[in-house]
Amino acid sequence: MQIVVVGTGYVGLVSGTCFAACGHTVRCIDIDEKKVASLNSGHIPIYEPGLAEMVADGVEAGKLSFGTDLGSSIPDADFVFIAVGTPARAIDGYSDLTYLRAATDEIARHLTGRTLIVVKSTVPVGTCDEIEDRIRAVKPAADFDVAFNPEFMREGTAISDFLNPDRVILGGDREHVLGPLHQLYRATVPRDVPVQMVNRRTAELIKYTANAFLAMKVTFINEIAELCEKLDADVVDVAKGIGLDTRIGNKFLEAGPGFGGSCFPKDTNALVRLAQDAESPLRLIETTIDVNEIRKRQMAGKVIAMCGGDVRGKTIGLLGLTFKPNTDDMRESPALPIALALMDAGASVRAHDPEGVREAQRLMPDVEFADDPYALAHGCDAVVLVTHWQSFKDIDLGRLGALMAEKVLLDLRGVFAPEDLAEAGFASYSVGRPA
Ligand code: UGA
Repeated sequence: MQIVVVGTGYVGLVSGTCFAACGHTVRCIDIDEKKVASLNSGHIPIYEPGLAEMVADGVEAGKLSFGTDLGSSIPDADFVFIAVGTPARAIDGYSDLTYLRAATDEIARHLTGRTLIVVKSTVPVGTCDEIEDRIRAVKPAADFDVAFNPEFMREGTAISDFLNPDRVILGGDREHVLGPLHQLYRATVPRDVPVQMVNRRTAELIKYTANAFLAMKVTFINEIAELCEKLDADVVDVAKGIGLDTRIGNKFLEAGPGFGGSCFPKDTNALVRLAQDAESPLRLIETTIDVNEIRKRQMAGKVIAMCGGDVRGKTIGLLGLTFKPNTDDMRESPALPIALALMDAGASVRAHDPEGVREAQRLMPDVEFADDPYALAHGCDAVVLVTHWQSFKDIDLGRLGALMAEKVLLDLRGVFAPEDLAEAGFASYSVGRPA
């Protein structure tokens, strides 16, 4: 199949590359000429395990290419995927559809023969209707359809999530729209992956509902973790005990410093606005957002408490900065409010992250950066593990502690066994576990 993907951000780049790896011919389009030039010279703008190699393979096989030439690419395309960003509007949390509308108008200008437009960007319910109306307004006689096909990939595991998804959701109103899309996915994902075909509005809502539910699940276990700390119970065992019930499931029950990233915060806010406008408020999700914000801010308080109630003049080391491992994404990362609150309380903050430093330097200009965990620990009064990078699991705790001014370690992700920390002589805090 011939596929055009509009937008070479996270979703567009991974989807396009994976479609190409499955033998389809893919042209990825972006208006950012510099980005396209850099992609064409083999530079991948995001850190995603395995992606750089896959892009190189796709380009070499002649299946994947990048350009700015939407107009000349559309006539040959069986599918035009829209995967531009729909960030939250800073002012009110609604989804900002500026890029989506611009991409739609550009596509409309170049429509010639029959075209199937597939929206992959996460959008409020009713957006595909708007896209259809917008195109009709520009080209009343155009032969096109608009479908919605949400993406459920996670940063860090995006390639396997795309190629081996739990399900594929196709939203469209007519069989002749969904039939070709169904065929495309049959030629892309394993045969046993369920493909659910629904109407467009339902598909739009499935995407928001999935992210809101997962954000709520994480927030729920975070609140239980807090309770465990008060009651001397262990959240790891509670999560295991409830997760063995298949109705609950064992995923997304790892307590931590609060969810971040480019999706959960944005999508929960957008869904709340959508529901309020529909006069059907989602109070559980409203509370999830509030509880999560409070939790991120609470973490610095735990550090201060472990440092005897005062961090003035002390040096605190943050181990991990990105919102989760295997990404360089700092968006809405709990590390940001933690660092700010500690500096406000008079501490100096030092940090180390395997991939996030470039962005962190921009966002946290007053933080000092260290090249590895041991350089980070040198002379620190406390080290706080914020992001659970795999490499941190192998840290030599004895060596780390020996470098520190005070052997205090807060494990906000449950990476280290509390017994190992005690054995290495640390005064420690482990999220959701007995003191
Ligand atoms: C999320 C969804 O998981 C994807 O299915 C979806 O496609 C994506 O958003 C999107 O809409 O594009 P992502 O933001 O990459 O993916 O990250 P997750 O792995 O879902 O983690 C989100 C946050 O929850 C992170 O801050 C993570 O640390 C936290 N989390 C997750 C926990 O604290 N505990 C858990 O058990 C799981």
